[in-house]
Amino acid sequence: MIRAIRGATTVEKNEKEEIFSAVTEMISEIMEKNGLTADDVTDMIFTVTPDITAVFPAAAVRKLGITDVPLLDMAAPDIDGALPMCIRVMAHAETERSKRDIVHAYMRGASRLRPDLASKKISVAIDGPAGAGKSSIAKRVANDLGYIYIDTGAMYRTVGVYALKNNIDIASEQEKLIGSLPEIHIEIRYEENEQRMFLNGEDVSERIRESDASMAASAVAAIPAVRERLVKLQKQMAEKGGVIMDGRDIGTTVLPNAELKIYLTASVDARAERRYIQNKEKGIECTLDEIKADVIERDHNDMTRAVSPLRQAADAVAVDTTALDFEGSVEKIKDLILNI
Ligand code: DC
Repeated sequence: MIRAIRGATTVEKNEKEEIFSAVTEMISEIMEKNGLTADDVTDMIFTVTPDITAVFPAAAVRKLGITDVPLLDMAAPDIDGALPMCIRVMAHAETERSKRDIVHAYMRGASRLRPDLASKKISVAIDGPAGAGKSSIAKRVANDLGYIYIDTGAMYRTVGVYALKNNIDIASEQEKLIGSLPEIHIEIRYEENEQRMFLNGEDVSERIRESDASMAASAVAAIPAVRERLVKLQKQMAEKGGVIMDGRDIGTTVLPNAELKIYLTASVDARAERRYIQNKEKGIECTLDEIKADVIERDHNDMTRAVSPLRQAADAVAVDTTALDFEGSVEKIKDLILNI
């Protein structure tokens, strides 16, 4: 089977030596990661942005000993805002690998061009206290890198909404809620890249964000039988990889083998201030002191509950967003994923 393999790389200077070394690195990566020998390659087509004039990139391939393969250099279109000093390749090779197992090589400054083509998408676990920005950051990173974002808090919220709708008092009627678990069908659908939650067929995506649903979620999240059920569902959803899952126990319990575990945090003051600004924007009356007290209380509840308390997994990378803005936090997480 002939498969197409893509690569792209960048140079900082329009100089022969640097172009040769960038192309050698990119082609070596394509050959090694796909287990190819020179005999397997049928052809390579290169394009260069118009700012590269020092040397034809294909010349580097001949130096690598790939001599009897047709090679072609072409000019890439001159597009406003395109990545400068970029060398792209489309190589064709004989291989038994499936399309999904082909490794494409996006290197140096080009590593961000097509992260969605990366053949081996990993599983990423993001845990941390409320208000550290987990869901908004994870959602954006997943969107940029072609990953599926799974918000596990939304699942606990959905079970909480079931209890509210059915007038089950979670504190005093735990057994009733546990007995109802087989009747609680939670479905997650993705509409225009948004995760939407369905409870027994009803769209509750907005309802679960109301404040009584937050309280109910926190209460149901402390019930072991509820956790067991949701953790099982979460593990199934992550089976194929390519997911960014956020919650409190993802790195420790749900995805203990995740290739990347991130513990996202920020100081109590920073988290309280962000929530305060959000509330003000929504017209919710509150004081900064009240919010701060609430953050401290929620941290305490999350970290001290008996089942799956929030804690940093031993192998998690701690990312503190106190001094980072949203874009800075997104970049930081993307760097961690792309450089694993
Ligand atoms: O992240 P969130 O605010 O949407 O979470 C809602 C509640 O569910 C919160 O009290 C913590 C709990 N939760 C949990 O215990 N484990 C998870 N994996 C995700 C959320």
